[in-house]
Amino acid sequence: METRPQEGRKGPPRRDVPPVVGLLLSMALMNALLYLCLDWLFILPPRSVGEPRHCPHGHFRMGQMSNCSPWLSCEQLRTEVRQMKRVGEGAVKRVFLSEWKERKVALSRLTRLEMKDDFLHGLRMLKSLQSKHVVTLLGFCEDDSTILTEYHPLGSLSNLEEALSLPRYQSINTWQHRLQLALDYVGIINFLHNSPLGTLVMCDSSDLPKTLSQYLLTANFSIVLNDLDALPLVNHSSGALVKCGHRELRGDFVAPEQLWPYGEDMPFQDDLMPVYDEKIDIWKIPDVSSFLLGHVEGSDMVRFHLFDIHKACKSQTPAERPTAQNILDTYQNVLNLLRDTATSQTREML
Ligand SMILES: Nc1ncnc2c1ncn2[C@@H]1O[C@H](COP(=O)(O)OP(=O)(O)OP(=O)(O)O)[C@@H](O)[C@H]1O
Ligand SMILES: *[C@@H]1O[C@H](CO)[C@@H](O)[C@H](O)[C@H]1NC(C)=O
Ligand SMILES: *[C@@H]1O[C@H](CO)[C@@H](O)[C@H](O)[C@H]1NC(C)=O
Repeated sequence: METRPQEGRKGPPRRDVPPVVGLLLSMALMNALLYLCLDWLFILPPRSVGEPRHCPHGHFRMGQMSNCSPWLSCEQLRTEVRQMKRVGEGAVKRVFLSEWKERKVALSRLTRLEMKDDFLHGLRMLKSLQSKHVVTLLGFCEDDSTILTEYHPLGSLSNLEEALSLPRYQSINTWQHRLQLALDYVGIINFLHNSPLGTLVMCDSSDLPKTLSQYLLTANFSIVLNDLDALPLVNHSSGALVKCGHRELRGDFVAPEQLWPYGEDMPFQDDLMPVYDEKIDIWKIPDVSSFLLGHVEGSDMVRFHLFDIHKACKSQTPAERPTAQNILDTYQNVLNLLRDTATSQTREML
């Protein structure tokens, strides 16, 4: 500090507060303010405005809409929605950026008639699972095989690195925001495993790119589940387990119980392939989280703190893997711990 109280200063001979005290007081005040602001600096901006935005079943609200609207009917989809350019395509749906009442929306059309069952399963799930974890349904028409959903300009979660390199998002390319994305992701798995319909397994996830393409990145930098075409139900009390597809799966990304167990000598046969449960989703969490954490300052420190829980996710025995809720709690604890550490370290520098 250079500014020293000036001794030969002109002014009233007897001031109540000598200049040196005033200076000290204002410094203390500034410090206190900074101290308080630190809490804000390290807390992520509020992203979901929470539950008051919830609409009754069969209704939706998006963006700045103040009221809930009923899902659009076939008639409305045919006359009020203007299809613009194609933004994505998968095995089941072709997706078009479209316009409805001057809002951007996503219109999905069935690609091939053979996929109609998957399409209808996805639509049924989309209707039943509307929540903050799932893309908002705006309308559908079974006769035309169309579904209208909220449009998310950042597209699928595979685009994460591109999105984070955009000027307007560079400032949030931090371990805090990236760990928050991992929390969103595990939150979605936890929601599926404890859904109103029962324990649902995220089957469309045979490799990392495929898994990422099932989710959308919102402009608020949260994750929503978009593709619900392959969510079979596990029922532990009735012993009903599942299989993801009818083809042989290979590689390290899928859980070991998803691999053909009878060796190379015996050719794969779908009816001999054993069934499994939702713990296949748990096996995949470390790989998805690691992608989400990326390589920024601090992400290795986060990885270090997640080491034990991730190791448990990779247990060969499905029943020994933690639940999605266990993982969610651990992630939240690590986020709180590291945030507090970062805050107190900065405080010490003051
Ligand atoms: N609401 C949306 N907003 C922005 N982009 C979207 C939206 N819905 C879908 N997309 C884009 O279209 C792609 C394909 O959509 P979707 O996954 O629903 O198709 P699919 O045929 O069911 O795919 P799959 O082959 O995985 O079953 C997505 O990965 C995403 O890039
Ligand atoms: C993003 O958050 C704002 C408020 O912070 C909200 O109005 C808006 O609907 C949110 N958008 C999405 C896509 O969730
Ligand atoms: C699971 O199975 C039990 C016993 O058959 C049944 O009572 C229950 O309703 C099933 N749960 C779901 C979610 O299907």
